[in-house]
Amino acid sequence: MERRVRLESEAATRALARALARGLPAGTVVVLRGPLGAGKTTLVRHLARALGFTGRVTSPTYTLMHVYPTPEGPLVHVDLYRLADPRQAEALGLWEELAGARLAAVEWGAPEDFPGALLVELTPSGEGVREALLASNDPVLAGVIAGLRLPE
Ligand SMILES: Nc1ncnc2c1ncn2[C@@H]1O[C@H](COP(=O)(O)OP(=O)(O)OP(=O)(O)O)[C@@H](O)[C@H]1O
Ligand SMILES: [Mg+2]
Repeated sequence: MERRVRLESEAATRALARALARGLPAGTVVVLRGPLGAGKTTLVRHLARALGFTGRVTSPTYTLMHVYPTPEGPLVHVDLYRLADPRQAEALGLWEELAGARLAAVEWGAPEDFPGALLVELTPSGEGVREALLASNDPVLAGVIAGLRLPE
């Protein structure tokens, strides 16, 4: 299942994050792709807000992983950009964190390393505008994608 959405502004990205926070089952991994500055961390910040977390949400580029204790459960935020070898994710304790998470968001994750994840690919398309591609092979997530009520 694949769906394309045009995000006209950061407010539309926030609306997408809210819809995802409502619709995604516990334990869903969201793999975030797209060039530097596409809005991956921004989407995770809005996800954290939508889950009720009010603290700071910053890029885990250097620390590789942040875990935000939201009222709905942990939101795991990973940035694999600096990881030369994806197997280093083991050393991070990533897999253990994923087990109990409400959601996990993995910037620069390789989709083949996260089978059954929701792929969100953001492509800049002019000032403030992003095209989002949502895709998943998982039948439950495919249903969620199809049913998302998103700003057109
Ligand atoms: N429609 C939009 N959706 C999301 N972010 C937007 C949008 N329009 C503008 N922006 C801005 O684009 C920037 C995106 O930066 P962000 O750090 O989220 O990117 P990133 O994809 O995480 O980059 P990196 O690969 O370096 O981690 C932010 O300054 C954000 O305010
Ligand atoms: Mg980022």
